[in-house]
Amino acid sequence: MALTDFDLVLFGGSGDLAMRKLLPAMYARDVCNDLPPTARIICVGRHEWSQDEFLATIESTSKPHLKQVDEAVWAKFTKRIVYVSLNATESSTYGPLVEALRKDDALTRVYYLATPPHLFARICDNLAATGLATPNSRVVLEKPLGRDLASAKQINADVGKVFAENQIYRIDHYLGKETVQNLLALRFGNILFEPLWRREWISDVQITIAEKIGVGNRMGYYDTSGALRDMLQNHLLQLLCIVAMEPPTSIAPDAVRDAKLQVLRSLKRFTPTTLSQNIVRGQYRAGHVDGTAVPSYRDEPDAPQQSRTETFVALKAEIDTWRWAGVPFYLRTGKRMADRLAEIVVRFKPIPHSIFNQPNNSFQPNSLVIRLQPDEGLRMNLMAKTPGDGMRLKQAELELDFREQFKAPRMEAYERLLLDVLRGQLTLFMRGDELEAAWEWVEPILNHWEQEDSMPVPYTAGTWGPAASSALIGRDGLQWREEALPED
Ligand code: BG6
Repeated sequence: MALTDFDLVLFGGSGDLAMRKLLPAMYARDVCNDLPPTARIICVGRHEWSQDEFLATIESTSKPHLKQVDEAVWAKFTKRIVYVSLNATESSTYGPLVEALRKDDALTRVYYLATPPHLFARICDNLAATGLATPNSRVVLEKPLGRDLASAKQINADVGKVFAENQIYRIDHYLGKETVQNLLALRFGNILFEPLWRREWISDVQITIAEKIGVGNRMGYYDTSGALRDMLQNHLLQLLCIVAMEPPTSIAPDAVRDAKLQVLRSLKRFTPTTLSQNIVRGQYRAGHVDGTAVPSYRDEPDAPQQSRTETFVALKAEIDTWRWAGVPFYLRTGKRMADRLAEIVVRFKPIPHSIFNQPNNSFQPNSLVIRLQPDEGLRMNLMAKTPGDGMRLKQAELELDFREQFKAPRMEAYERLLLDVLRGQLTLFMRGDELEAAWEWVEPILNHWEQEDSMPVPYTAGTWGPAASSALIGRDGLQWREEALPED
């Protein structure tokens, strides 16, 4: 669907996200001729820069983040950009924005709030007070969308005073990733998996998002957040929802979001016992990542020496539905881990009986590995006969490499999500009740950690996390995938 003309307003328009992700994403769509000729991007910031000074800033700060630079397209792209300086908390300073926006009801107008969340309410109020929150405008909210249930509810209430739910686009950039959408295609575009996608055939599910990077220059934010808020409450739970949800009736926003909400509401609540037994939080200590020495989290620039913030979390979740009762979902994420990897592993039950001269336990159960990054693909592990005399079975792999299979150029998550906002497609954005349901489930963990007088367990940077994480899954007789890989 072609885009119609738009004014895209970026609050936080001179900030890190705009420079690294949002402007490069819009440029990439301009390269593909997706943007209407007169579409504009209005960058709003506090600095009192002239238009030329702002253009010089993006030249030095955003342009280096483009994958490829075509100078002619870049020149065309920068003509779309208008810089507006204002104080987002003061409606009396909004005059230049009112002037910059085109007054045409047929035009799509989007306010992208790439600002700290404590500014959301003020910005929305000021947009309303200055007549800018028109019924056909849209608002995009960037994470962190709250730090607990109460603050998430507050954001929903504040933004909801000014914008209707179907005008609100809550970003989780994982939903913009190709492979996450491919998971929908896999589950609901094939007949093969659905009959097996249930407790009778699936033994367990692992979802991992491991990063090699640390917290970079975001210590101020990260130390007050930690892995549970930063990654698990949003990205990992969204992945879990897509793996576990019932077939939605269509791809329409509310059909998909209702199905995800049902999963979140069916997550088994933690008890005092499961809170202490089924969750591991870790913090990295000095180690080596790719052969380079890295310091302890607490020795990173600006880190509080006594920080108790977790840089790793692993937990066992369960879903109380007929489809999933008794199937453990193991989730984990961490910084400074052995590899950069995001994957979902669905393990099937073992065969009931071996007819071969091989014991049952020499048969690796089938598994489906859905790899989100770095290399997007699917791998089905099967048992096959090894060539030659006799009948020995060994694990073999059926591999689908999305890059090999589909040569079409890739879109970055933000490109896809920005296009969807501009087209008014809400399916890949979280609804307010989903956000609250996710916080509701996570909050007891936060409270437990706060009350508990203990530190996160240490793990060495460049490893797969603390030993307690292997023990967590080991208690159920299982291993994380990298631990279970057969030696060649
Ligand atoms: C962000 C987190 O939401 O996701 C970061 O705030 C994290 O801490 C990032 O590094 C990971 O995203 P990706 O797409 O690189 O896996």
